[in-house]
Amino acid sequence: MKLFLDTASVSEIRRMWEVGILDGVTTNPSLVSKEGRVFEDIIEEICALGVPSVSAEVVATDVDGMLREGHHLAALHPSIYVKIPMTAAGLQATKQLSREKIRVNMTLVFSANQALLAAKVGAAYVSPFIGRLDDQGQDGMELIRDIHTIYQAYKYPTEILVASIRHPIHVLEAAKIGADIGTMPFAVMEKLVQHPLTDIGLARFLKDWEKVPVRAKVTGPGPQSTR
Ligand code: G3P
Repeated sequence: MKLFLDTASVSEIRRMWEVGILDGVTTNPSLVSKEGRVFEDIIEEICALGVPSVSAEVVATDVDGMLREGHHLAALHPSIYVKIPMTAAGLQATKQLSREKIRVNMTLVFSANQALLAAKVGAAYVSPFIGRLDDQGQDGMELIRDIHTIYQAYKYPTEILVASIRHPIHVLEAAKIGADIGTMPFAVMEKLVQHPLTDIGLARFLKDWEKVPVRAKVTGPGPQSTR
């Protein structure tokens, strides 16, 4: 499963990109507004890191506006996926952009029928928001199962991008279902790395190692930490 960060913070993205576990980034208008920076500057900086998939969202709600913004965003960098909301206008715009080979991420998807429509108009990604469904007392992961079943039955190439992930169990469940991508906040991705038994085990190994004689001391702080 590909792992994406759901953030517009370039420093968070840089951190995970350096670790080497990041496959892409999704942004949305709310995440961008938190940064207080020029939208296109943020998107171009993320793309310049080499991140191969960067979703940037349109804010127009009519077809012509979505197409205009979609063209503008797609022209910023070849890694851009244009994020378009799941509305009748969004479906129409997605069909047109897909014909032009501009990749669309259909967002704000809350039902399997909406996901079926996204696939029919040629969306590259479909983004079901599972956390927001859980918040409403509905099982968000059940939606991922349904979309996966439908896409497999008809061999739709649209990738399932599980969005609104809130904790590591969401990532685990999505991976077990076979979802293509999970997008998550930085804090959730950090938790995927950590385990208390890893920390305890490492501390014990290092303690025991203090008693071992070695010919040459090659371990120790690297150049960055000797300042
Ligand atoms: O980017 C879309 C989605 O992941 C938002 O998540 O936590 O605001 O429901 P959330």
